[in-house]
Amino acid sequence: MRRKIAAGNWKMNTTLNEGKELIENMLSKLDENPPKQNADELLVIFGTPFITIESGMQLVSGNPMVKMAAQNCYSEEKGAYTGEISVSMIKSTGAEYVIIGHSERREYFHESHEMLAKKVDLALKHDLKPIFCCGEKLEIREKNTHFNLVKRQIEESLFHLGAEDFKNIVIAYEPVWAIGTGVTASPEQAQEMHAFIRNLLAERYGPKVASDTSILYGGSVSAKNAAELFANPDVDGGLVGGASLKADDFVTIINSF
Ligand code: PGA
Repeated sequence: MRRKIAAGNWKMNTTLNEGKELIENMLSKLDENPPKQNADELLVIFGTPFITIESGMQLVSGNPMVKMAAQNCYSEEKGAYTGEISVSMIKSTGAEYVIIGHSERREYFHESHEMLAKKVDLALKHDLKPIFCCGEKLEIREKNTHFNLVKRQIEESLFHLGAEDFKNIVIAYEPVWAIGTGVTASPEQAQEMHAFIRNLLAERYGPKVASDTSILYGGSVSAKNAAELFANPDVDGGLVGGASLKADDFVTIINSF
């Protein structure tokens, strides 16, 4: 059985103190308003800046439903890569997840399919679970080649893996035109792409991997539209940017399943 997941991607926001306060605030709101699911059914993930992960770990450690994630990692194990953060460094904080291949990384930092495949491999090797992002820009959707592009992104960076590895993979479909724009994919557009991705997994790895892999939607998920998006059979939750920085909104999103 795949889990529902509400994951926040804080991006480059919050100082250390602001981040700690935000986590404390969200945890106390979650105590007041606990989700109806248990930790086997639903996970909440805070994808914070690196500097916040360790303190975040101390705050969330009493709650089995809540995990920490990094937003990126480097594609080499260690060495002379000034300023980069390795998967074993992330793992040493206690974080369990790492976001890999976010469209902002692909676009601004020119991360290729090949580099992302290396990051995925390193994360799995060090027992960190990738939240692997894919999704098309507007011009690709307008040309109606979005299915081909998403297929390619998944094939090139994930399909060298074995079926067993998928126990530790989460996929996030994030159409670039919906990220930070306030324009959300319609529930039908999200469901259509998620079903397509699940079918790709089924063709490559069989029905069990396909049905056990959580596929999240990202792109202007809000307290208002989360329930409608999450109601789709192949939408297992959200990777949430802007709304994950507002405690009330994110707790509403978590309670939208
Ligand atoms: P958004 O960002 O929710 O602010 O659109 C989503 C993301 O980039 O993961």
